[in-house]
Amino acid sequence: MEYKNLIDFDSKRRQLIEDILKLKKERKAIILAHNYQPPEIQDIADLRGDSLELSLKASKTDAEVIVFCGVFFMAETAKIVSPQKRVLIPVAGACCDMANMITPEDVKRLRDKHSEVPVVTYVNSTAEVKALSDICCTSANAVKVVGTFSERQILMLPDMNLARYVQRFYPEKEIIFFEGFCPFHHQLTPEDVKRAKEKYPNAVFIAHPECRPEVIDLADYVASTSGMLRLAKELPHKEFIIGTEIGLLYPLRKENPEKIFHHPAPDKMLCPSMKKTRLEDVLNALENFEFEVELPEEIRSKAYQAVKRMLEIV
Ligand code: 13P
Ligand code: SF4
Repeated sequence: MEYKNLIDFDSKRRQLIEDILKLKKERKAIILAHNYQPPEIQDIADLRGDSLELSLKASKTDAEVIVFCGVFFMAETAKIVSPQKRVLIPVAGACCDMANMITPEDVKRLRDKHSEVPVVTYVNSTAEVKALSDICCTSANAVKVVGTFSERQILMLPDMNLARYVQRFYPEKEIIFFEGFCPFHHQLTPEDVKRAKEKYPNAVFIAHPECRPEVIDLADYVASTSGMLRLAKELPHKEFIIGTEIGLLYPLRKENPEKIFHHPAPDKMLCPSMKKTRLEDVLNALENFEFEVELPEEIRSKAYQAVKRMLEIV
């Protein structure tokens, strides 16, 4: 970019940020952003975090408007826990491919087949699917949530990789799972990880529980996205291989400038929906109350029971 264009670009961007912050105040709004969001969105957010931290914040904030920069199920969860607030998602088509893999009919069929078995549903799911579940979980608390059940069998939806990860902690239980997955985490292979480990022999490998079991087998640590940020800060190690969506590299590097972060497969692990939000979209959301998340009360209140049960035990 030429020097003058660069100055124009910078001043336009500064103006956008000023407008967003001013309007945010007027609207009594809060901006929440997931850890995978583009850097400029993370930088203007009031809170950046993983699914669990963001849903906790959405349930506790006294803001009147929540602008949720993430994918649809995250904004929908904010609406489930805060129905009296206006919840806005700046990009209407930002969806989670895993959440769209399971339908309410799938859940009904599984419940009929496994009657009496508690249903633990990953928050990466639609409100209709949550409404048919006993409790929700996130990647940060799935092991703890399953541990609260005395039943031998548990049905976990929709992520088979998360279910198989949780199974490792409860050999006495049978975790029955639906065969959903995150297309981006599931693509990471043990070969990708072995190659990165050979290249960076001193690096610690941290995997997200959405990765396939053969990848989890190679991990030094398994954690949610915010769990990875905590580990990077707390561990004495200087070098890390990060097994999750590449957006997490931005906060990792920003918060730990003295440490080195590698990615084993950057081309495979990019979630396009997480990259759609631009500053212009956030400003439009605040200006025009777009795009507002709405939910039929009957579904919301049932989904709320499942989310509330989860939030009570974290
Ligand atoms: P976290 O809750 O760990 O941030 O994960 C959300 C997600 O969508 C991972 O792909
Ligand atoms: Fe969904 Fe995977 Fe994107 Fe996370 S990275 S939002 S699980 S599609």
